Amino acid sequence: MGTKTVLLLLVGVLGAYYVYTPIPDSFEEPWRFMWMATQIKTVTNLAVFAEQLGISHFMDIGMLYMSSQEVPPTSDENVTVMETTFNNVLVRVYIPNRKSEALRRGLFYIHGGGWCLGSAAWFNTDILSRRTANRLDAVVISTNYRLAPKYHFPIQFEDVYNSLKWFLRQDILEKYGVDPKRIGISGDSAGGNLAAAVSQQVINDPDVKIKLKTQSLIYPALQTLDMNLPSFQENSHFPTLPKSLMVRFWSEYFTTDRTLEEAMFFNQHVPEKSSHLFQFVNWSSLLPENFKKGHFYNSPTHGSSELANKYPGFIDVRAAPLLSDDSKLHGLPLTYVITCQYDVLRDDGIMYVSRLQNAGVRVTHNHIEDGFHGALSYYGFKIAYRIEDQYLSWLSKNL
Ligand SMILES: *[C@@H]1O[C@H](CO)[C@@H](O)[C@H](O)[C@H]1NC(C)=O
Ligand SMILES: *[C@@H]1O[C@H](CO)[C@@H](O)[C@H](O)[C@H]1NC(C)=O
Repeated sequence: MGTKTVLLLLVGVLGAYYVYTPIPDSFEEPWRFMWMATQIKTVTNLAVFAEQLGISHFMDIGMLYMSSQEVPPTSDENVTVMETTFNNVLVRVYIPNRKSEALRRGLFYIHGGGWCLGSAAWFNTDILSRRTANRLDAVVISTNYRLAPKYHFPIQFEDVYNSLKWFLRQDILEKYGVDPKRIGISGDSAGGNLAAAVSQQVINDPDVKIKLKTQSLIYPALQTLDMNLPSFQENSHFPTLPKSLMVRFWSEYFTTDRTLEEAMFFNQHVPEKSSHLFQFVNWSSLLPENFKKGHFYNSPTHGSSELANKYPGFIDVRAAPLLSDDSKLHGLPLTYVITCQYDVLRDDGIMYVSRLQNAGVRVTHNHIEDGFHGALSYYGFKIAYRIEDQYLSWLSKNL
């Protein structure tokens, strides 16, 4: 064999090794999934590389990749799309074109991206918003919020809350022809986290007279205490959201100081004095049997109180809605939770379902057996259409 052939073979083998991702048998489009996983892996590797060389922050590469996929606010035959600000926060508004005598339903949507990435302009968020407006004949508000690492908690939470409060004003709802009794909130991933957090806040806010009818949480992140839940252990290397990336997102939400990231990764970040909070994320009591099997519950470990003193955000209920006590959960609206089997965040969602049910909240739980984190956002994938259809059918009946 000549040198060229050997080199070609070597490149081929390395390439195949790089692209190859072990995939569950139940996945309906394995090659398509592998191709997407390779893109994610490549962007992540580039980001790590650029950061190690000191060229850019880890999130900059992801930001560049995401912003290349943004689309302008363009109306189509069914939906008029425009941009405006709600309380100084940039939002996209989607209004169906068809004539309506009655007031419409309203849906407030919060995009995902680990509090660091994404926007209402990201084409997947934009497509979902226009399809939602069209199918439900609803006014959809898709909000932006300032992102980490430039801005940290509670900026993201506050931007979303300010924008939501603006929308829930009587005069604003009148302007958009929205029925104040039929307003829902939805979000995916970090957007699901923000949706859950502002929903808790709004029920006890005396300034807000108009309340939400539904909350839909699509594979949400809901807790910061335990990065070793069964779902974290089972999916720690799953390509769409490995544990390392999720912990990075969480820690960047609070600070760019990487000592928090390291402590979180090893579950050594919660101080002794916050031990009582572990009851709210106790998977041994909050997960159904089938999700616990093969796992043993260990008592939680603790870290120094220094980190929690410096970055108290990570034990703040506005960042980790699972840390709310039952009395605060009690008044929450009708809830829809999507969880995916192949997702480190799976158990966050499942534990929230248990907690809400224990607090007397009506919940529909849709667990996607062949689902993975972000599945709804992968347009063109069969699974994205399936999840979208289930989610919009639920909203159609319940909002
Ligand atoms: C407009 O709505 C119709 C009916 O729901 C749909 O078939 C069509 O694809 C929509 N057009 C666009 C541009 O989305
Ligand atoms: C978690 O739940 C298990 C079983 O219900 C219980 O034995 C354990 O003490 C709990 N731990 C914490 C920290 O709440």
